[in-house]
Amino acid sequence: MIREVTRMGNPVLRQVAQVMNKAETLSDETTRLILDMRDSMKHYGGIGIAAPQIGVSKQICLIELPSVNRYGQEVSLPFTVFINPIIEVLSDDKAGYWEGCLSVPGLRGWVERPQKILVRYKNEKFEDCELLAEGFLATVVQHELDHLFGKLYIDRVEDLTKLAYQEEYEQFFLTK
Ligand code: NI
Repeated sequence: MIREVTRMGNPVLRQVAQVMNKAETLSDETTRLILDMRDSMKHYGGIGIAAPQIGVSKQICLIELPSVNRYGQEVSLPFTVFINPIIEVLSDDKAGYWEGCLSVPGLRGWVERPQKILVRYKNEKFEDCELLAEGFLATVVQHELDHLFGKLYIDRVEDLTKLAYQEEYEQFFLTK
């Protein structure tokens, strides 16, 4: 079921989401929640979504990144459910990308983030998993996981001259 996306200003986006235990993760309620998150992500055209973005303060987020070529990198991630994720930064090397967010519609902002991370998390079966993410994928994963800790990408835009409406971003910043 497609659910309404919470937008900036809704306090649920600013809370640290609740950690999941095994029984909660395997419950019918969580199975339905994950399906709703997936339906909503696809409906609104996102590549990731976190439970607080549909109003549920739980440590669950999804990413499904079809193969895209961004800045010369071929990047993809099959449908992945991250529960109780913990990020370890493996390299201080940062790179910037123009980020957008379903909860901050109509805007784009330039954010620099570490480009090599290891994420430890549980999947939807509550199995221990790890993902090594580099480059643009590392940025996508950090953006989504931030949602579980009350952060939005705009908090990480250091140069506010690089926060723009979508149309102005396309007009003035998008490299052709
Ligand atoms: Ni977002």
